[in-house]
Amino acid sequence: MTSTATRPRGARARAAIAAKTLRTDRWWFAPLITVVGLTAWVTYATVRVYLHDWYWVEDFHYLTPFYSPCITDRCVEGAAHFGTILPDWWIIPEAAFTLPFLLLFRLTCYYYRKAYYRSFWLSPPACAVPDGHQSYSGETRFPLLGQNLHRYFFYAAVIISLINSWDAVLAFHSPKGFGFGLGNLILIGNVVMLWAYTISCHSCRHIIGGRLKHFSKHPLRYRAWTGVSWLNVRHMQLAWITLGTLALTDFYVMAVAADWIPDLRFIN
Ligand code: FES
Repeated sequence: MTSTATRPRGARARAAIAAKTLRTDRWWFAPLITVVGLTAWVTYATVRVYLHDWYWVEDFHYLTPFYSPCITDRCVEGAAHFGTILPDWWIIPEAAFTLPFLLLFRLTCYYYRKAYYRSFWLSPPACAVPDGHQSYSGETRFPLLGQNLHRYFFYAAVIISLINSWDAVLAFHSPKGFGFGLGNLILIGNVVMLWAYTISCHSCRHIIGGRLKHFSKHPLRYRAWTGVSWLNVRHMQLAWITLGTLALTDFYVMAVAADWIPDLRFIN
């Protein structure tokens, strides 16, 4: 409790309220739905990554983003666009180089931090609701100090988005040469959303428009910063949308690769 001696001049003592919170709305709903959504997605992604199967559609060159780039000796011919440089050990995912960076990019993302601090750590679960912990050190100590590395994971995410874009381009394929089907629309939609999420990153916004004294002397950067800012205010929505498009893309490729459904072809 703040003593009278340490209390700022003019500040009043906190009211002695026994209730945990005076909020009567459904403040617990957002953290709850976040736990359910993130847990379901991580479970699906983990199972898929370790299935080691149904990630490549030979006829149409569809490659799921969960296995891109495919770099282990297990990768089927055609799916390994960058060569196979890792051994065929069950514990090593096909996309062993990119998955850790993608995970760290999302884990250190400003929005996801807010989401999982509130929902998993209850720190605090909502505004005007007490923290679930006795003490609070913020992000000043290891391991949370590492959240500051987010700007570097952003650069890795840009490279990975380029790889995913290349996968989407290579997928305009059929046994007759050029081809176009529903899978292409899904792959492209996913890539567009991934770029939107990546570019809407707070670090990207700073890279584009930060450290400038006068926007008037940098009209191009100002225009780019304005565009990034437009996306940035939608960062939370894009974070969730991309989880959805990633899972949808992976599931569609799996379903076609496993012959559960045929790909709907528009051309060839
Ligand atoms: S702040 Fe979310 S990806 Fe950078």
